[in-house]
Amino acid sequence: MSAPAALYRDHLARMRRRATDTLAAERFDAILLDAGRPSRYFQDDQDAPFRTNPPFAQWTPLEGPHHLLLVRPGGPPLLIRVAPEDYWTEPAPLGDPFWVGEFEIVEVPDEEKAWKRASPGRRTAYIGDAPERARAGGVPTEAVNPERLLRRLDWDRSLKTPYEVACIEEANRRAAKGHLASRAAFETGGSEIELHRLYVSALGCVDKDLPYESIVALDEKAATLHYTVKRAVRDGKVFLLDSGARHLGYASDITRTWTTPACEPVFRDLVRGLESIQQSLCAAVRPGIPFPDLHRAAHVRIADLLHGTGILRRGGEEAFAAGLTTPFFPHGLGHFLGLQVHDVAGRQAAREGGEVPPPEGHPFLRTTRTIEEGQVVTVEPGVYFIPMLLRGLRSAPAASLVDWALVDRLVPCGGIRIEDDVLATADGHRNLTRPHV
Ligand code: GLY
Ligand code: MN
Ligand code: MN
Repeated sequence: MSAPAALYRDHLARMRRRATDTLAAERFDAILLDAGRPSRYFQDDQDAPFRTNPPFAQWTPLEGPHHLLLVRPGGPPLLIRVAPEDYWTEPAPLGDPFWVGEFEIVEVPDEEKAWKRASPGRRTAYIGDAPERARAGGVPTEAVNPERLLRRLDWDRSLKTPYEVACIEEANRRAAKGHLASRAAFETGGSEIELHRLYVSALGCVDKDLPYESIVALDEKAATLHYTVKRAVRDGKVFLLDSGARHLGYASDITRTWTTPACEPVFRDLVRGLESIQQSLCAAVRPGIPFPDLHRAAHVRIADLLHGTGILRRGGEEAFAAGLTTPFFPHGLGHFLGLQVHDVAGRQAAREGGEVPPPEGHPFLRTTRTIEEGQVVTVEPGVYFIPMLLRGLRSAPAASLVDWALVDRLVPCGGIRIEDDVLATADGHRNLTRPHV
């Protein structure tokens, strides 16, 4: 699928209405969005891979640095595309032109000329990563990334338009192909590095096109939550793959955990049990449910799973209250997903700003909002055997409630995470991942 032009037109119309409303509320005349600039490695002449600033990317899939977009009520947005004429680098092409008709577009050869063309007025709010450049270009300090205006843009980004949902679903479709290719190679003993190569090859992309560095973990490495090494080690019994894809700037974020028949049977029971918990949590996504309630429900269900498999001597609320689940499930249940893998506004209290902190004892929960139609969240419970956290539990008063001999047998299996991307709809949810993998 390429982006359906009609969906994009509606998306842009909604973006313009939101911008008009935000400008009136915050008393600005226009918004100047900066695509961003690459960051340079220290004492080097090379840049880190470039990523477009998300507030710019929400308007246009145009790639590359230094472009400016001037959003003004009453007229089409003015896109100032920087296309340098040089023989060192290849400027990002306009690409599929389905979106260009919605803009007034001018091309300039460099950033200086782009700023001259934009010529922001005193009441133009600048949004971007170059505050000094903006001030030099005439933007007053109070109009550089103004806090309240930024919060409104963030809040709006958390409520996806149908175009954005279609992009995230396409990113799921693409990532699913990689997951299926990697899984097949795991079953024939592939190494971490081979499994990763097959993943990017199935997507037809290179690493820098991925929305985040893939987590390709065999056996005990599945216990490192953000494990990004790719070893030559092969013949794993457990394979945790947390890897996504991009489509027109939008990300997917998918995790699967697979085992071979030679894997410890209790661990295989845990995988089946966690899969069923994860699916029931996905099914519970609907407007009006506070996301922290789902996170809590995940802990209680995981307590029952650990009890049922003999790892804990208590289950349910009792095990959760005794702090027995956190060492096995130390991260949050999920987060917003969109242009960024960990998308903005997960803890924002209202469109105007403010923060809802995570519950005590759960500092890594990135989403404390109540679910609303149009949000896309990940649902990613996990069960891990993390030596560092197990050491802490071993010396805690609740240590006698754990079967340590069984835990020791499970440590070489690493851990399990299962992650889908779920859209909250008016009357429930739609799982954007499951139809594909
Ligand atoms: N892939 C990172 C995460 O699941 O949050
Ligand atoms: Mn995630
Ligand atoms: Mn993930």
